[in-house]
Amino acid sequence: MAARIGFAATDQTAIATAVSEVTRNVVKFADTGEVEIGTLEEPRRGVRVVVRDAGPGIPDVEQAMRDGYSTYEGLGLGLPGARRLMDEFAIESDVGRGTTVTMTKWVGVR
Ligand SMILES: Nc1ncnc2c1ncn2[C@@H]1O[C@H](COP(=O)(O)OP(=O)(O)OP(=O)(O)O)[C@@H](O)[C@H]1O
Ligand SMILES: [Mg+2]
Repeated sequence: MAARIGFAATDQTAIATAVSEVTRNVVKFADTGEVEIGTLEEPRRGVRVVVRDAGPGIPDVEQAMRDGYSTYEGLGLGLPGARRLMDEFAIESDVGRGTTVTMTKWVGVR
């Protein structure tokens, strides 16, 4: 999809990596979830990815977004890395309810 709407190869890799990191968290911490990937035309061309789960949620999102923070002795780079790879990144999480990550990358930005 990213290739089709004009992303360069490096951007395609960045998007795939971000999707992979965030969905890997779902598998690891929430077991199951869903991913929605779509393209945008307005205000410019881009890819938007929404990753949702109904898992345990994250008690302190700010802490989880910090480089190196991990509750399983991982690198703790998945979420902050995904944020850096995309242009927009939002995370909403409620303990006991689940987590939703919404991220967007625009063609031709940066
Ligand atoms: N979907 C999720 N549900 C519950 N907790 C999550 C979820 N995603 C992330 N977390 C919490 O946030 C922490 C940081 O996530 P992040 O992806 O940055 O690092 P990690 O998964 O621990 O390590 P890495 O991704 O580098 O292997 C996790 O250790 C986990 O505690
Ligand atoms: Mg991770």
